[in-house]
Amino acid sequence: MSEAAEKVQEEEIDLTGANQILDKFIDMQGALMPVLQEIQEHYGYIPEPCVHLTAERLNVYSSQIYGVLTFYSQFHLEPRGKYIVRVCMGTACHVKGAGRIADTLKERLGVGHAETTEDLKFTAEYVACIGACGMAPVIMVNDGTYGSLTVQKMDEVIAKYVAMD
Ligand code: FES
Repeated sequence: MSEAAEKVQEEEIDLTGANQILDKFIDMQGALMPVLQEIQEHYGYIPEPCVHLTAERLNVYSSQIYGVLTFYSQFHLEPRGKYIVRVCMGTACHVKGAGRIADTLKERLGVGHAETTEDLKFTAEYVACIGACGMAPVIMVNDGTYGSLTVQKMDEVIAKYVAMD
């Protein structure tokens, strides 16, 4: 488990939100997926206590829920940063220096693939082609795309988000 995840796990998870979501779906057929989607929307990920609560209230096994969570990549079992930095590692970006861009991110923020900063501000993800090969190397920060990156430009993008709340 990551440090960020441990920090959050140490704090109590307030299950009020999860209970309200479950109240809405409790008598519905096929409620599991929408419940999990809404729980993730509410908490930003699926906290472990929510898995057990969902199992209990929907009368399914926790193992079934973990099966669903690990099958669908849309679900996250650990807390993620406010800013998700996706570094494209597709062929065009790789050839144009995506490795240096990923290294810069790691050096500046201390996070590699699937890692989150301790303050829960940034999560790094190395991804396949994001369809902007003409401006390789490319990263996305949440919905924003930044292309033709050099180490210097990458530094500027990182500094911009570090300065933001
Ligand atoms: S390979 Fe990076 S955008 Fe296509």
